[in-house]
Amino acid sequence: MTPDPEPAPTPSRVSVALGARAYDILVGPGLIGRAGGLIRPLLPRPYTVIVTDENVARHHLAAFEKALAGAGIACRHVILSPGEGIKSFNGLQDLCEKLLELRVERRDLVVALGGGVIGDITGFAASILRRGMGFIQVPTTLLAQVDSSVGGKTGINTRHGKNLVGSFHQPRLVLADMGVLDSLPRRELLAGYAEVVKYGLLGDAAFFEWLERHGAAVLDGDLAARQYAVETSCRAKAAIVARDEREDGERALLNLGHTFGHALEAAHGFSDRLLHGEAVAIGMCLALRLSVRLGLASGQDAGRAESHLAAVGLPTRPFGARPEQILELMRQDKKVVDGRMSFILARGIGQAFQTREVAENAVLEVLREACEEGAEAAARAAG
Ligand code: GLY
Repeated sequence: MTPDPEPAPTPSRVSVALGARAYDILVGPGLIGRAGGLIRPLLPRPYTVIVTDENVARHHLAAFEKALAGAGIACRHVILSPGEGIKSFNGLQDLCEKLLELRVERRDLVVALGGGVIGDITGFAASILRRGMGFIQVPTTLLAQVDSSVGGKTGINTRHGKNLVGSFHQPRLVLADMGVLDSLPRRELLAGYAEVVKYGLLGDAAFFEWLERHGAAVLDGDLAARQYAVETSCRAKAAIVARDEREDGERALLNLGHTFGHALEAAHGFSDRLLHGEAVAIGMCLALRLSVRLGLASGQDAGRAESHLAAVGLPTRPFGARPEQILELMRQDKKVVDGRMSFILARGIGQAFQTREVAENAVLEVLREACEEGAEAAARAAG
């Protein structure tokens, strides 16, 4: 007798409660293999176009297309060059023309199979093609699974800065397959992990404590730990997005570490010298140090955050940039209003809040101290 097939592992389901635009995020192993059955009910006709990049295509495109074919879905694909460079007006035009050549219709859904860059440009193209089509996110990096694929921010970069042209356009479904994380380089996995830690630091002290105990397991490939970490992160983001979709208030908390982080990325020319998640890790440490300096949080809480990030192998102090230069770049941030910078500070772990009431000299002192420590640590490491 043929044994019963193994039951498919149950994915976790996180709902983003946005009324008529509500959608689910599924988190679990094997979702790419089951994508056909999960996506088919959403399609008005059995046809879709997958947008991906060369690296992701090498690892996952064949399996994804096979899964769609298994559910009777005809599909075509567009394979873009990897990297941030395609998030440009030229890249957007090229993608729109290719999707139109493949005869996408207004009611069709396109699929973004890739990391944040693919999700951002595909979502934006979908939001303007034929005056607005739907799309599905299949994020293939940890960072995209816990942040950029959820919440509907889409867009491209301009010569004036990152993500300055875009739209809020929610996906119809997000499939976060734990299996894809196995093919990620460790450095990229770690950069995504910084955004996982962010959810603990900004609003969930118990989750941060869990990460202190299980973060290494998440990074080393423990499936249950990964699924819990991604699900908890998505649940936190989904709840915030449902309350404040267009970032009129609370959604700004998701920018914890980002005002410092963006300035650091800019100081490194948005290059591979400092990945976005690494900049966010340093930025979160700086935000907590600033909170301590302003008498809001305890040094113990800031120390815990820094110790955990350092223990998993993330950078915690700025390097390769001067304090005055970082401050100047922070003044250019797109969240500056009437010349005043926006900060996400914390009264402790899990207690973040937004403020514009921060004296610049306090920021500069924190930057000077952290940059000095960073330089000393680099000198020690160089022997
Ligand atoms: N990445 C921050 C947000 O989606 O609001």
